[in-house]
Amino acid sequence: MKNCVTFILDIAAGYAKYILESLKEIGKEKVNIICLDTNPKYPQIVTEIFSKHGIDIRYENKSAFDKDFIFNLPSPNLIISSGFYDWITDDEAVMRSIKLVYEILVRGGSFILTGQAKHPDLELVSKFFIDFKKEPLKMKLRSVEQMKKWLEETGFKDIEYKTDKWGYYYTLRCVK
Ligand SMILES: C[S@@+](CC[C@H](N)C(=O)[O-])C[C@H]1O[C@@H](n2cnc3c(N)ncnc32)[C@H](O)[C@@H]1O
Repeated sequence: MKNCVTFILDIAAGYAKYILESLKEIGKEKVNIICLDTNPKYPQIVTEIFSKHGIDIRYENKSAFDKDFIFNLPSPNLIISSGFYDWITDDEAVMRSIKLVYEILVRGGSFILTGQAKHPDLELVSKFFIDFKKEPLKMKLRSVEQMKKWLEETGFKDIEYKTDKWGYYYTLRCVK
């Protein structure tokens, strides 16, 4: 849509490199970006990186589960959850997040999320990496079918997905 402003909310953004790379490719006009992350190291660094590329973003040190904060944001028409759900072992928490995303997204808006369906050695991951709470990283693998089911049950439609050629990682896109 020609005059439509894209309003992106990334619920666990980290460096949000993919947003920057995409905007460099497709142009940065008419895009508003809000990023959330519970790690306090990101807001300043990432805001500065985007700023060097002439892009203003709002980056808040807030949780993707902070309903009160999220409901007071302007309504996004594109929500991103990248590399977030596979680090959450609790299914209920992931479903809660999907529901919250659905509630705040404008009708016709898109939700893009990534996940992992397979991994060659989760034990090794746990030995070498730490999670958000600085504990050994336990990742949870979920199939595309599983995620699709939760998205559909929440009310999302037009679900599309891509996986790598080995079926390890996937990206799902769906519409409210
Ligand atoms: C694996 S990183 C992914 C970062 C980025 N989205 C990407 O794909 O490169 C997961 C991020 O989630 C953040 N995080 C963990 N719990 C969170 C929460 N409850 N709300 C928002 N961010 C959270 C972590 O600090 C971390 O930056």
